[in-house]
Amino acid sequence: MFLLPPETAHNLAVMALKCSKPLQPLLRRQCLVRDERLHVKLGALSFPNPVGLAAGFDKNVEVLEGLQSLGFGFLEAGTLTPKSQPGNMKPRIFRFPEQEALVNRMGFNNQGIHAAAKKMNGRMKIPVPVGFNIGKCRGTPLEKAVGDYRNCVDVLFDWADFFVVNISSPNTPGLRHLQGPVYLEPLLQALREKVDALTLSKKCLHKPLLFVKISPDEHLDEVVSEIAIKTRIDGIVAVNTTRSRDGLPDTAPEEGGMSGRLLKTRSTETIRRLYQSTKGQLPIIGAGGVFSAEDAYEKILAGASLVEVYTGFIYKGYTLARDINRGLVKLLKRDGFQSVQEAVGKE
Ligand SMILES: Cc1cc2nc3c(=O)[nH]c(=O)nc-3n(C[C@H](O)[C@H](O)[C@H](O)COP(=O)(O)O)c2cc1C
Repeated sequence: MFLLPPETAHNLAVMALKCSKPLQPLLRRQCLVRDERLHVKLGALSFPNPVGLAAGFDKNVEVLEGLQSLGFGFLEAGTLTPKSQPGNMKPRIFRFPEQEALVNRMGFNNQGIHAAAKKMNGRMKIPVPVGFNIGKCRGTPLEKAVGDYRNCVDVLFDWADFFVVNISSPNTPGLRHLQGPVYLEPLLQALREKVDALTLSKKCLHKPLLFVKISPDEHLDEVVSEIAIKTRIDGIVAVNTTRSRDGLPDTAPEEGGMSGRLLKTRSTETIRRLYQSTKGQLPIIGAGGVFSAEDAYEKILAGASLVEVYTGFIYKGYTLARDINRGLVKLLKRDGFQSVQEAVGKE
């Protein structure tokens, strides 16, 4: 795969997952780790293990079944926007194998929420929680962004176990301004009301959880956590990619977000600060540089209830979720924890 350009390799991997149906029972046997200690409960949602796939891999909800068979405890699809978008010009993903990092400037390329809803309609329920990462269209001004996010919740509600409000991608101009209090409080308030109203009007047995995804760069985590608690959203995903290029060669592209190994410390520090500033009241999903059970455990001890991988999945391959889960069971046993949940924030 590494002989191919990154986006071609990505498309090939998605295609392989699409064709993986006959192999899925075998993959499940190989990759699913069943252990009570790994179970995590957040609100009404039950996660068989704490290792999820981060947003950006399955942008168009094409391969949820194949991904679940690789042992992930939950899946985050998207980012999805109200209308389909082509994203930025190619090339827009760059590998740095020595640093086990990626830089991407995809720019929310996706087929839009209506195409996603069509794909979800009539599909068998995936046996792990599935969430949608939602964003605004590139052309929507910040003042009208609330409408875009509300529209996404409306159209995808029936299939969502959780939503992730993406206000932190570095590749949609101005998007990160939505992290500031002027925009953030009304945005999260409106989405809280939307989810509550839809749950009531549809007489739903389930109520999707509402998360907000933050960036590691602006150090707005205290503001975000205050607003998150005030608006009663259900948790925070920390973190998106960074604009920093620390550790990369000078040839690295200027535009785009960096992910992978070099993001790990920055991400764990953000999780730690969030856990402290919220006094552990808000569940945190930790993302950024998780390549091993030790990396995942470090984030759990710093305050994450769940973790997500993307770049690690690219560099380590399809058994990563299994390897992390197996390792986590050993680490929990070693330190005398009965469950992942017991270890959260116990640094
Ligand atoms: C190629 C690529 C595309 C991504 N696309 C999205 C996206 O559409 N929405 C989003 O919220 N995050 C996106 N991300 C960020 C990841 O979800 C994750 O937050 C980040 O990469 C840090 O985790 P990692 O170090 O395990 O990759 C993308 C990352 C990569 C590498």
